[in-house]
Amino acid sequence: MIALFVIALASLWVPAIALSVTSSSPCASVCDNGGGATVASDLVCADTDYNTTVKGLTMKRCLLCQSTSTTYKNASSNDNDVHWFLFNQKYTIQNCLFEQSSSSALSACESSCLPLQSVFKYLWGTHPDMEAYYYCSMNNGAFDQYADSCATCLKKQSGSVILGNFMDSMQSGCQNKPNASEGDTIRLKSDLFSTATTDDTTSATSSPTSSSSATQSATSAPSKSTSSGLSTGAKAGIGVGVGVGGLIIVGAALWAFLSRSRRTQQSEEMPLHAEDSKPPSVQPEPTAMSALPAEMNGHDHHMADGRPRAELG
Ligand SMILES: *[C@@H]1O[C@H](CO)[C@@H](O)[C@H](O)[C@H]1NC(C)=O
Ligand SMILES: *[C@@H]1O[C@H](CO)[C@@H](O)[C@H](O)[C@H]1NC(C)=O
Ligand SMILES: *[C@@H]1O[C@H](CO)[C@@H](O)[C@H](O)[C@H]1NC(C)=O
Repeated sequence: MIALFVIALASLWVPAIALSVTSSSPCASVCDNGGGATVASDLVCADTDYNTTVKGLTMKRCLLCQSTSTTYKNASSNDNDVHWFLFNQKYTIQNCLFEQSSSSALSACESSCLPLQSVFKYLWGTHPDMEAYYYCSMNNGAFDQYADSCATCLKKQSGSVILGNFMDSMQSGCQNKPNASEGDTIRLKSDLFSTATTDDTTSATSSPTSSSSATQSATSAPSKSTSSGLSTGAKAGIGVGVGVGGLIIVGAALWAFLSRSRRTQQSEEMPLHAEDSKPPSVQPEPTAMSALPAEMNGHDHHMADGRPRAELG
């Protein structure tokens, strides 16, 4: 009875989180229970969120699955798990560093990361036919030039280490350009969810492994709040939840409904907003930014038909 209740509860909570994944992938059930693409409201920024929120745990399990998946739909398109693995990390960095006005991660690493803004604001979803590793070379190789110092800065600050690890994944992609249809995956330098900060005196190899937490079920942390540090309350929630199950199911259904509405709104306004917005006029490296309009105008802006997951990026 309790097991049935937990399953019912999970089936109500999880559908609101949908992360982009190849539809035939073994990761599909882990990543995408709602039949859609990643949207901004699916993303978390702080390291602790990946342990304490359902969104963060879902992203963690999804990325760890995608990191080993070579599922592809069409060898000559970007609909493959190597691409979606990078996309979900790219979109997280884009959102956490460059879309949120009060991002503490960016303010601490502004001079190192701001030159990458136009690379991250280039929407992959509105350019579905772009070359798979276009981000590596666009804007005169801005990514290649600045990714390393941005990642180094992020990994020095407690709380933004995972963002730095994501940057490392994207760098690894540029180095090896893995092709899913040939069985390649992104080679990871270290544990993607290691949160050990690196500084000038400790070596990067000192990071402890944390992937064991990946086996943790997202349902074990029923807290839906985006604020961090709720794992204790989350555990207590299960006990309380069994008692007031009916109430929680109604609440979860309402929440799922509201999330769905929000998802629809965001997936419509995000691409326009991000595509239209110009980088701020204060740019430490004007040369890296000056190529932006040409890059964007040189590409079709049409959406691929029948590819709802490609709306954002
Ligand atoms: C998340 O959990 C893992 C494993 O339990 C642990 O190694 C890691 O340090 C935790 N991360 C944070 C930010 O608390
Ligand atoms: C594969 O993708 C390419 C590029 O998007 C497209 O032109 C082609 O028609 C697709 N092939 C199949 C079999 O779907
Ligand atoms: C991946 O490999 C396939 C088959 O060898 C090839 O057709 C495709 O163009 C390659 N994709 C990329 C992005 O290089």
